[in-house]
Amino acid sequence: MQHKGTKNLETERLLLRPWKESDAEAAFAHWMNDPNVTKYLTWTPHKEVAVTRALLKTWEEEGRATNCYHWAIVLKDKEVLIGDLNILQVDDWNERGEIGYCLGKAWWGNGYMTEALREVLRYLFEEIGFYRLNGCHASENVGSSRVMEKCGLIYEGTRRKFMRLPSTGERVDIVVRGILREDYF
Ligand SMILES: CC(C)(COP(=O)(O)OP(=O)(O)OC[C@H]1O[C@@H](n2cnc3c(N)ncnc32)[C@H](O)[C@@H]1OP(=O)(O)O)[C@@H](O)C(=O)NCCC(=O)NCCS
Repeated sequence: MQHKGTKNLETERLLLRPWKESDAEAAFAHWMNDPNVTKYLTWTPHKEVAVTRALLKTWEEEGRATNCYHWAIVLKDKEVLIGDLNILQVDDWNERGEIGYCLGKAWWGNGYMTEALREVLRYLFEEIGFYRLNGCHASENVGSSRVMEKCGLIYEGTRRKFMRLPSTGERVDIVVRGILREDYF
């Protein structure tokens, strides 16, 4: 792989750019404080903006590394911060990473995450040289399932009762998906 890091990426409606500590107020208000957004995630809503600010400080610092791929998603025309798209567990030997994302609830159902992920996959396969991207989601998380399906991530199996939801403690099945270089091209 030829790492280039979190470069600015553009789609028809979105700008994907590195995180800044000064995004904290918007990120907190738009989704990081919202239990609807975190329902199937591994973290719980932030109770105060100081928590978001401390986190974004680390994201801004980490984001300077050339092997970090972590974008803030911004609506181009209104310059509104609406979400997050991250590649976790970047593994150089296996040339793979794991996709993570979330979007403020006010912006769900407009095709934004599909648009963002398609562009990120293009960048990672065509410009960086990843071989595989993993995705996983709670089986009942229909929105995330559709986003991955539409972006070409193939169903590979279900890990039964693999995760306990932080909000309720309920155990849920986790669907595992992946897309390979040859699938993409
Ligand atoms: C999952 C999430 C990122 C989807 O983003 P989005 O921008 O709303 O998704 P899109 O608009 O691109 O939708 C893609 C498809 O999913 C469908 N979809 C989206 N949300 C849905 C929902 N809640 N229920 C049913 N279908 C849904 C859309 O209708 C669309 O399908 P279509 O093209 O066949 O009509 C967003 O709901 C979210 O941030 N959820 C909370 C965080 C989260 O769960 N992250 C993923 C963890 S694995």
